[in-house]
Amino acid sequence: MLFKVQRYDPETKTSRLDSFVIGTPEGMTVLDALFRIQEQLDPSLSFRYSCRGAVCGSCAMLINKVPRLACRTQVAALFGTPTASRLKPWRALEARADWRPRTEVLVEPLPNLPVLKDLVVDMTRFFDHWRVVEPALKPAQDPPDKEYPMTPAQVAELELYTNCILCAACFGACPVNDQQADYLGPAALAKLYRFFLDPREGENDPRLLLAHNPEGWWACQFHTNCRQVCPRGVPPNIAIGQARARLRRLGKKPLDSLDHD
Ligand code: SF4
Ligand code: FES
Repeated sequence: MLFKVQRYDPETKTSRLDSFVIGTPEGMTVLDALFRIQEQLDPSLSFRYSCRGAVCGSCAMLINKVPRLACRTQVAALFGTPTASRLKPWRALEARADWRPRTEVLVEPLPNLPVLKDLVVDMTRFFDHWRVVEPALKPAQDPPDKEYPMTPAQVAELELYTNCILCAACFGACPVNDQQADYLGPAALAKLYRFFLDPREGENDPRLLLAHNPEGWWACQFHTNCRQVCPRGVPPNIAIGQARARLRRLGKKPLDSLDHD
């Protein structure tokens, strides 16, 4: 199998596309393939990983023009998958002339974040936006002697959002994050909504106001790339829609020039 890997040299500030041919036994993941390339063909290849089990969120990258976890993506599954065609297209996701999508694996760094080296991106902007939403519970009262009572439905709704592993695949897939650098992004907004939902939280409605601005809830254009690429099934678009509806019920108006439904 021919792998084409985007390289970036921070010393010379130059990019290139390198080609590597390796065997791809059944069950091989893209992360396995990168290790094979690093161990056998080019030890200078840089990429980020930790758990190798879709838990830590470290290995998100652009694989065949879709943001995915390299450790969870089997090479064989890349061919014939219709995922790419469902994503809202924008410049980072467009096919390139030097890649044949039916027969080659193209691996590039996650879009919308600066590249440090090869496939390693600087996550600072992603985590700066994450901190804006103050992602920690602010209970209204001291913890009860036993547990907080919650209904199964409340737990199920919360779990939709607590499943996030901070991989930034949604951030890299989002056309708005490309156009608007200060947009908080899908993961931060989904996390903010998670705290709004939490029955243990003491500042549910005030929480929503943290993103009641043109960089927050109102910047989203509902392309839904975030939900489609999320490896944990988190639906940031649902969170954003629900938050907007709640803000409207609180008498708040959209804070940009777009016509939001
Ligand atoms: S919402 Fe999904 S895609 Fe976005 S950071 Fe969390 S796990 Fe990754
Ligand atoms: S290495 Fe941890 S999610 Fe891929």
